[in-house]
Amino acid sequence: MRTLRTIAEMRAALGDARPGLVPTMGAFHEGHLSLIRAARADNDVVVVSLFVNPSQFGPGEDLARYPRDEARDAHLAEAEGVDYLFAPAAEEIYPSGFQTWVEVEQLSQPLEGALRPGHFRGVATVCLKLFNIVRPRRAYFGQKDAQQAAVIKQMVRDLDLDLELRVLPTVRDQDGLALSSRNAYLSPEERTAASALPRALATKDPERALALLDGLDVDYVEVADFDPRVLAAAVRVGRTRLIDNVVLEEGAPT
Ligand code: PAJ
Repeated sequence: MRTLRTIAEMRAALGDARPGLVPTMGAFHEGHLSLIRAARADNDVVVVSLFVNPSQFGPGEDLARYPRDEARDAHLAEAEGVDYLFAPAAEEIYPSGFQTWVEVEQLSQPLEGALRPGHFRGVATVCLKLFNIVRPRRAYFGQKDAQQAAVIKQMVRDLDLDLELRVLPTVRDQDGLALSSRNAYLSPEERTAASALPRALATKDPERALALLDGLDVDYVEVADFDPRVLAAAVRVGRTRLIDNVVLEEGAPT
């Protein structure tokens, strides 16, 4: 595996190849690895991007303390047979004078969009840039971030992007908690409290879910009409904000 830092190096390495791309912010866990394995199975060439995208973090959010361990991530990616790890510096992606943004207007409004203004603008913009840099034939996202997957799907459709999106099921720990890089922030007590979130969502019923989240700081528990429809929730446990969702349609990724 080669780790590449610049757009020029990435383009030169790929030539005409149309790889599978897994966009990430690092701190890999089995959720990321499931996307990487799917990409490895489907594509001749696999690119994983590792970029903690500043533009999708709000002013009071966890950009500074977001977990970063590139050496560990590189090791894990290499063990999964990744060809290229694209790990640019922030200035490579947002050089001074940068001023063009992608707004997916309606899907970015509710839920995470309402609580994190500008979040999906940052996500859509960085994903479009990664798609233009890597020119993937397929790109892999997790159902864990259902609204993000819906926003990217809409952008691909609206801007006629020539790639196929694959959305994979949420990988969970034994206690049901969806794997997330942010779980690393939780103390053992907080972790126990957080396990109410998947239990609540498993009811697939907003009112029953809200009752089971009693005592937690709930941002929302709502049915969202994404494709597929989900019951989505966000809670704050101490300083950590967790999101999760359960698919309400049969046969769709869970
Ligand atoms: P990150 O949080 O690192 O997640 C990278 C990908 O892994 C996303 O598609 C996410 O949905 C998926 N993922 C995270 N936890 C998962 C789990 N438990 N099971 C399955 N998939 C999971 O999402 C981002 O980064 C960024 O917003 C990004 C798309 C890279 C743009 O900056």
